[in-house]
Amino acid sequence: MHVTVIGTGYLGATHAACLAQLGHQVLGLDTDAHKVAALNSGTPPFFEPGLPELLRRNLAAGRLQFTTDYALAARYANVHFLAVGTPQRPGSYAADVSFLHAAIRALAPHLRGHHVIVGKSTVPVGTAQALQELADTLAAPTATIELAWNPEFLREGHAVADSLRPDRIVLGVQACPAAVLSQHPAPEAAKPAKQQPGPSADRGSFAEPAPPSLAEAALRDIYAQALAQGTAFLVTDLQTAELVKVSANAFLATKISFINAVSEICEATGADVVALSQALGLDQRIGPHFLGAGLGFGGGCLPKDIRAFMARAGELGVDQALTFLREVDAINQRRRQRVVDLAREACGGAVRGHRIAMLGCAFKPNSDDVRDSPALAVAGALALAGAQVAVYDPQGMANAAQEYPTLEYADCAASALRGAHLVILATEWQEFCDLDPHAAAGWVACPQLIDARNALPVPAWQAAGWTVRALGRTLD
Ligand code: UDX
Repeated sequence: MHVTVIGTGYLGATHAACLAQLGHQVLGLDTDAHKVAALNSGTPPFFEPGLPELLRRNLAAGRLQFTTDYALAARYANVHFLAVGTPQRPGSYAADVSFLHAAIRALAPHLRGHHVIVGKSTVPVGTAQALQELADTLAAPTATIELAWNPEFLREGHAVADSLRPDRIVLGVQACPAAVLSQHPAPEAAKPAKQQPGPSADRGSFAEPAPPSLAEAALRDIYAQALAQGTAFLVTDLQTAELVKVSANAFLATKISFINAVSEICEATGADVVALSQALGLDQRIGPHFLGAGLGFGGGCLPKDIRAFMARAGELGVDQALTFLREVDAINQRRRQRVVDLAREACGGAVRGHRIAMLGCAFKPNSDDVRDSPALAVAGALALAGAQVAVYDPQGMANAAQEYPTLEYADCAASALRGAHLVILATEWQEFCDLDPHAAAGWVACPQLIDARNALPVPAWQAAGWTVRALGRTLD
């Protein structure tokens, strides 16, 4: 298949490279010429394990290229994925969907014939329908445009594997004009497939299955390999597909804040949240994932998605349904303050004049993304309180330096730790988990540690002479 991917950030660049890896001809489009030049030279403008190799292999094979030219994109393919950002609007909880509108405005007038535009970005429910209406007003008389929504669930740091082997594919479609369908009969694969198990494999859970849309036929071709391997494929209406994504992220955020709320109780009672979380996770109904108590969630998705979800619920007049997410957000913010408080305590009541080493500034390991990074928020608060903060992160420092230019950035963990009165493990990179606590004790002025991710082998650090504090645990 020929496809385009509009927007080449963390999501779009990975999606484009993975579609090319699946054998499709892919044109990535971005309005940022520097980003396009970097991608065409095989260098992603961000860190994502495995992506540079995938990019180079597919550029060399002639299956992948990047452009800024919308007219070219319109001629290149009949299927266009939208992967532009939907950040939080300044001064509001709501998502800014203007980049999606801009993409449709730029693309739609160039289209001729039948085209499918498939949104992948995380959006407030109702966005796809609004984009369909916008596309219809801009379409040439000889064009038909079908909007569909195929939310992306990839995690940064695991993006390539998540894209190539998703655990489900969700597609929101709307009824397709019969005239268009008759000109584009659905391929065999678009019919409910008997060999694919369960209600997830077809549209059969709906009482009166509609004929497959063009989008469904196209996506069944594009994702044929995953479908052949039995990946669940759920076809829904547009609004359900939009809601699946925000609900998934809201659920994950809630699970993290749940364990972090329990962490606060552990701190008040002397209980141990790590042992508690392990015991909870062994219940198959609960499961062990996203029960990691610590500094909480950050990044470009979870924080802004729960806020946008609340804002949309308010617009729909059902804000009470999601008021609990306000608490999820508040619990998450309190963990950052708790680390600042623990640092103050470790520094004898005030951090002013103390040298503090921050291990990690990316919002999570295996990423250079510092958007809403809990680590960076703590570093910034400590610096504001007068501490001399030395940050080291294997990948995140260039991005961090743009947001917090006055922090000190060390070139390795050892130089960040040198002379420190306190060390804070804020992002659990493997490199930090593997540090030798004896060697580290020799670098610092005072062997004090806050394990803000509950990631380090505490007994080994204590045995090497460190005083260790952690979230949700009382350590002697
Ligand atoms: C998330 C969703 O997981 C993904 O499906 C969606 O497509 C985009 O948003 P991502 O933001 O890449 O992905 O990171 P994720 O792995 O979900 O972690 C989010 C945050 O939660 C990180 O800051 C992480 O440190 C934190 N986290 C995660 C915890 O604090 N505890 C946990 O147990 C798990």
